[in-house]
Amino acid sequence: MTVTRTGAPLLAAARREPVSHTPVWFMRQAGRYLPEYRAIREHHTLLEIVAQPELAAEVTLQPVRRLDVDAAILFADILLPLVPMGLELEFAKGEGPVIRNPVRTAGDVMRLAPVDVHDALASVLETVRLVRDELDDLVPLIGFAGAPFTVACYAIEGGSSKNFIEAKRLMYGAPEVWNGFMGRLVTVIGDYLTAQVEAGAQAVQVFDSWAGALSPSDYRRYVQPHSRALFERLQPLGVPTIHFGVDTATLLEPMRDAGGDVIGLDWRVPLDEGWVWIGEDRAVQGNLDPTALFAPVDELERRVRDILARAGGRPGHIFNLGHGLLPTTPVDNVRRVVDLVHEATAR
Ligand code: CP3
Repeated sequence: MTVTRTGAPLLAAARREPVSHTPVWFMRQAGRYLPEYRAIREHHTLLEIVAQPELAAEVTLQPVRRLDVDAAILFADILLPLVPMGLELEFAKGEGPVIRNPVRTAGDVMRLAPVDVHDALASVLETVRLVRDELDDLVPLIGFAGAPFTVACYAIEGGSSKNFIEAKRLMYGAPEVWNGFMGRLVTVIGDYLTAQVEAGAQAVQVFDSWAGALSPSDYRRYVQPHSRALFERLQPLGVPTIHFGVDTATLLEPMRDAGGDVIGLDWRVPLDEGWVWIGEDRAVQGNLDPTALFAPVDELERRVRDILARAGGRPGHIFNLGHGLLPTTPVDNVRRVVDLVHEATAR
């Protein structure tokens, strides 16, 4: 049977339509494992790249050129919207993100500035336009933002965290302040993603990277209403939405209920079992262990084929990692995964 194919495999897969091959892209596909990215980073900080649309567009396109992936992802960061809200964000060398004035009290939430995303995040929106001009119809541009919970964690902790003590202290101890802050984030993130789509993003991914720090009941109580409000705002935009988290084996159902046409799976869940919990009415994205890219090529290939077998050729699988590419990943292995996914699934 020949299938008539129009448009991008990634967008078709997100709608669970038949595809010419399983689409593949990688979270953090633009980054330090690429020599051409490191060459730019030698002369510019992350925030400088993001502030210069020509540079950010170039970095967005680098992995598309080198890897033959089925999507581009906007080069930006989930923490950018915190800056116009009044938080002092830095990417300190070796430390990851640092926020000098974290949100801890009701007063801190009240002092957050209202954000006009068209003004405050204009450079990111211009990057979207520049990238779209360079891409053909088969390679869509994915816009993204952090989910309110994961962004709140950084804003409250002041950086990365292992136990999220300050975030949970606020959540458990002052739920009205927590809910007020999450509500503010939903507004800004919703405005930001809407503006990305209006500028040309053809799908959006919401990263709830730290959702796995929560029990299902805490997720339902403190996070799900806010993530649901965000996805409800995105729905009328008419582009596919991807909802991703890490360590979410016990959260797949409540995350699905919050929203997302596509649910991201990390590598701790066998893809077929995760898909059963999520349900056949959604697409899934994932879920190779990022460290499998450090294995010998035959072992890497075996793992890629195992994921494809679990997807079983059903419409609605987008191949990706279970989390982002690591900075020391061998580039040739990344390219091998793309080629293997394309060869093994060509229909
Ligand atoms: O290629 C892409 O995926 C697009 C670009 C992208 C970046 N950040 C650029 C970046 C995306 C999608 C993100 C999302 C992001 N940022 C997340 C969610 C995804 C995830 O990994 O769970 C999170 C939690 C952040 C916050 C963040 N930004 C951290 C913790 C760090 C430091 C860790 C690190 O890898 O260095 C960053 C910095 C950052 N954001 C880099 C990049 C390419 C590395 C900066 C560098 O070049 O030195």
